[in-house]
Amino acid sequence: MTKESQILVTGGAGYIGSHTVLELIQQGYSPVVVDDLSNSSKESLIRVEELTGAKIPFYEIDIADSKGLASIFSSHSIDGIIHFAAFKAVGESVEKPLAYYRNNIGGLFSLLDCMDTYGVTQFVFSSSCTVYGDADDVPIPESASVSAVNPYGQTKLMSEIILRDVAQSRPNWSVSNLRYFNPVGAHPSGRIGEDPSGIPNNLMPYITQVAVGTRPFLRVFGDTYPTHDGTGVRDYIHVVDLAKGHIAALSYQKTVQGVHTFNLGTGRGSSVLDVVKAFERATGKTIPYEIVDARAGDIAEAFADTSKASEVLGWSAEFGLEEMCRDAWNWQSKNPHGYEDSSGTV
Ligand code: UFG
Repeated sequence: MTKESQILVTGGAGYIGSHTVLELIQQGYSPVVVDDLSNSSKESLIRVEELTGAKIPFYEIDIADSKGLASIFSSHSIDGIIHFAAFKAVGESVEKPLAYYRNNIGGLFSLLDCMDTYGVTQFVFSSSCTVYGDADDVPIPESASVSAVNPYGQTKLMSEIILRDVAQSRPNWSVSNLRYFNPVGAHPSGRIGEDPSGIPNNLMPYITQVAVGTRPFLRVFGDTYPTHDGTGVRDYIHVVDLAKGHIAALSYQKTVQGVHTFNLGTGRGSSVLDVVKAFERATGKTIPYEIVDARAGDIAEAFADTSKASEVLGWSAEFGLEEMCRDAWNWQSKNPHGYEDSSGTV
């Protein structure tokens, strides 16, 4: 795979996808994007084109549409795939498990079929630290036991298992499972960022919406966890660092075959109140909050052992928590309604 390689990015108009498309272009790759825009905006790609001066081939297709997907592989010489396209809301997955299994697993099947048909051997999978369930020890190494506690997590775990089995039968394939911890922040330009639909489930977009005045206060879900201040501890990672982790994996894959699994996190745990304080320091904004009951299904603490990614990929996160907050706020304050204010047309 040369650097001019065409990389198919599924879900490339989404939050992590758009940041990765930008990083791919900056590192000399040629991304081709497929996204059904069910939870993303084409405007993100227009802005990546503005930032890079590149033209991004874009297909508005559901990847489960095998014929539509195959037509992309016929039109481009695809060397590798980075697969983001999936539903990702834990609560929704409990309400609509079938939709999650159909979309997240069905989409993977279409892609794997195309790999066979078109001779593609490189695959990077967007997995999640959710596969560790409630881990016994932190920091969590890739060798920790895996389990899933909701349909969303099951789809990530099942996808990893499917990839393992299929790759075993195709010795020239190279697959990376990238287990993300908690991606936050935005590109420092403030042109692309996270644009959740409706009320955000996740902490950082909720905080930025409080800061911009869309929501009156933050609800802190529980303060009696066995952590340093009683609130939940997570490993927040800047989305630009995360995007770079994908390029590091692609580059490593050229040299090996088989399936390789990496945690992408910073290795540092921060509590909800640590994040609130860091946000206030980084932005000068005050975040009013109330402690409420713990959220069902939440765990006390999760942060990554990042030594494998550092040693094998030569990748480690560079941004700290305040920089994540600064960039999250830069994006939100410049785009109070996300991409909604833009025309969305090309
Ligand atoms: N939190 C609040 N208030 C909020 C939102 C979150 O106090 O309004 C707390 C949570 O209780 C948790 C922390 O902030 O302690 C982080 O919560 P997020 O929802 O941002 O992230 P989670 O770690 O719960 O979930 C993330 C991904 C999921 C994934 C999970 C495990 O969003 O998709 O990590 O991998 F399943």
